[in-house]
Amino acid sequence: MPRDSSGYLVAGVISPARKVPSSIPRPEYVGRAGPREYTGDNIYSAQQVELIRESGRIAAGAVEAVGAAIRPGITTDELDGIAHAYMIERGAYPSTLGYRGYPKSCCTSINEVVCHGIPDDTVIEDGDIVNIDVTAFKNGVHGDLNKTFIAGNASQDAVDLIHRTREALNRGIKAVAPGREVNVIGRAIESYAKRFGYGVVRDFTGHGVGEAFHSGLIIPHYDAAPRFNDIMEVGMVFTIEPMLTLSGGYAWDLWADDWTVTTRDKSITAQFEHTLVVTERGADILTLP
Ligand code: MF3
Ligand code: CO
Ligand code: CO
Repeated sequence: MPRDSSGYLVAGVISPARKVPSSIPRPEYVGRAGPREYTGDNIYSAQQVELIRESGRIAAGAVEAVGAAIRPGITTDELDGIAHAYMIERGAYPSTLGYRGYPKSCCTSINEVVCHGIPDDTVIEDGDIVNIDVTAFKNGVHGDLNKTFIAGNASQDAVDLIHRTREALNRGIKAVAPGREVNVIGRAIESYAKRFGYGVVRDFTGHGVGEAFHSGLIIPHYDAAPRFNDIMEVGMVFTIEPMLTLSGGYAWDLWADDWTVTTRDKSITAQFEHTLVVTERGADILTLP
């Protein structure tokens, strides 16, 4: 089973591509090397926001279904099968499947894997922390979220990291308000994470989402001011998805699969993500089950 002699993850065997009924519309990038450049807006009408909420609800239900199945002994490929079936049963396309060559219907990122872990024959072990990231595409729009789960009994350090990463996302969401620069979000997240000596991963960010999976709008999770000074506007839709490390580091390595990102120091790392819309009063989360 894919772990090295120190217990760190190594690449496993990826199963053949899962099928999506031809009746389910695909995003434009499927079957191509990558998405066309997005020239649309990050601001959506109330009707479009409700469609993003429908995609987000399906994605969130898939995350809950996978989370309920997480236990020592199950493989990440089996978890992918659950996410895949949940989405296609509801008429949604799993956005990651065929995105820039990504081969699976969700991302499963364990322990030192920061993000974009590919489901394979890896067996979940007692004490693993497992992030499940799902994006669903329906009615021409994507909804994107992730959560970190515990398999069996994890260390107190791992439990604390997970709870505080969830709270870091909450603090980022609370910083959302029309008229503010998007860099206030990362400032709130980083200042909270620093209290505990945690590191904030910089090179993977929140993003505009909706008609495009990644629109080009970038939401950093650290204090990047005066850069990233886009002004939040009512109707703007984007994700916030902080990745925090226990060690305080934020250097990372990329596996030969060109997807799996790990902490360079092999520290465990946790992540939570929501898609939200900016309102007059703050943020409205679009990825609730
Ligand atoms: N859902 C991830 C995000 O939050 C992106 C995954 S892209 C993939 O942006 F191709 F790795 F699946
Ligand atoms: Co995202
Ligand atoms: Co995501």
